[in-house]
Amino acid sequence: METNDLLNLRKFLAPEIVYGRGALKLAGRHAENLGASRVLVVTDPGVQKAGWTSEVESSLSTSRIPFVTFSGVTSNPKDYEVMAGAEVCRNEGCDLIVAVGGGSPMDCAKGIGVVMGNHKNIREFEGVDEVPNPGPPLIFIPTTAGTSADVSQFAIITDTIRHVKIAVISKMVIPDIALVDPQTTITMPLELTAATGMDALCHAFEAFVSTAASPLTDMAALWATRLIAENLLQTCQEPENIACRDAMMMASLMAGLAFSNASLGMVHAMAHSLGGAFDLPHGECNAMLLEEVIHFNFDAASDKYVQLADAMRVHCDGAPVLSCASALSGHIASLRRKLGITQRLCNMGVSSADIPRLAGYAFKDPCLATNPRKATHYDIENIYKQIYE
Ligand SMILES: [Fe+2]
Repeated sequence: METNDLLNLRKFLAPEIVYGRGALKLAGRHAENLGASRVLVVTDPGVQKAGWTSEVESSLSTSRIPFVTFSGVTSNPKDYEVMAGAEVCRNEGCDLIVAVGGGSPMDCAKGIGVVMGNHKNIREFEGVDEVPNPGPPLIFIPTTAGTSADVSQFAIITDTIRHVKIAVISKMVIPDIALVDPQTTITMPLELTAATGMDALCHAFEAFVSTAASPLTDMAALWATRLIAENLLQTCQEPENIACRDAMMMASLMAGLAFSNASLGMVHAMAHSLGGAFDLPHGECNAMLLEEVIHFNFDAASDKYVQLADAMRVHCDGAPVLSCASALSGHIASLRRKLGITQRLCNMGVSSADIPRLAGYAFKDPCLATNPRKATHYDIENIYKQIYE
């Protein structure tokens, strides 16, 4: 290590994390500790139907904290949903937000918090460190093992005027408390289990090869990769296996801590573009892109990719770089197919004529800044073409 490297400052941000069975039942106690007088619960209809929202509401009732529930959130949460939630929060006089659900309600809740603290449209806060004031305290309860919005400093919101996803990256959107209860993931449908698990794998891979990686994020990313390699497929085969669900939730949490602090890369830049323009599922887009981006990036971070291959039990010892890249990429493709993620862009409503515009959005995404290999507009178009059919 160079002397100069030793002097590089690194920071690692994380919320207070309570992990384990029954963690979601602590929502009321923690809201009380944070001095809440009235809580906005942000969730979505699927999570309500699964019963997790009512468990959280009961916990608030037990602590005698009044609440109002906002469930007007769809996947790829939209700017107008954030603004509608903020209006409910303001009109009802809520001073703390509890989010229960996957990435969509959690990101929407972060957006509501930003709007509450700063009194402008959520579209005004795109970029890194663009949120001047904190919002109300946030208690997050994830019900998927993948997005990890409960520990990250990222909120991804769809700008429905420009049809792009905007990334709000700020320590102001890190929740105060994450109540991580692996039992909540038992009710996830199979496709969501697979897609969110691949999203978590992309978080781990992208954080590990990021130009902003540090020993702290590397440790979390590698461990997450090992857990996902050992448990994702089995979780989909045995959805009620709580040990597998537990391992996947821990993997998601670790990958979340890694990417929150090391940022992401080309996979997410390109997936955000697809999600913003065509409302496509985030995890599936990531799953399709990862194998191609490994090929593109491999030479620029080959030592790191060899370690990831080892964590996936793809052994590359002494193999030429090109064959290791192919082995790792092939392994990821095989896992994706076994998980039933076999769609291509051409059957997801995307036309080949859309590719230049998609590449333009991805090129401007802040996640591209930490990709280990610099990508041109042309490189990005080529990768979209590879997953087109
Ligand atoms: Fe993601």
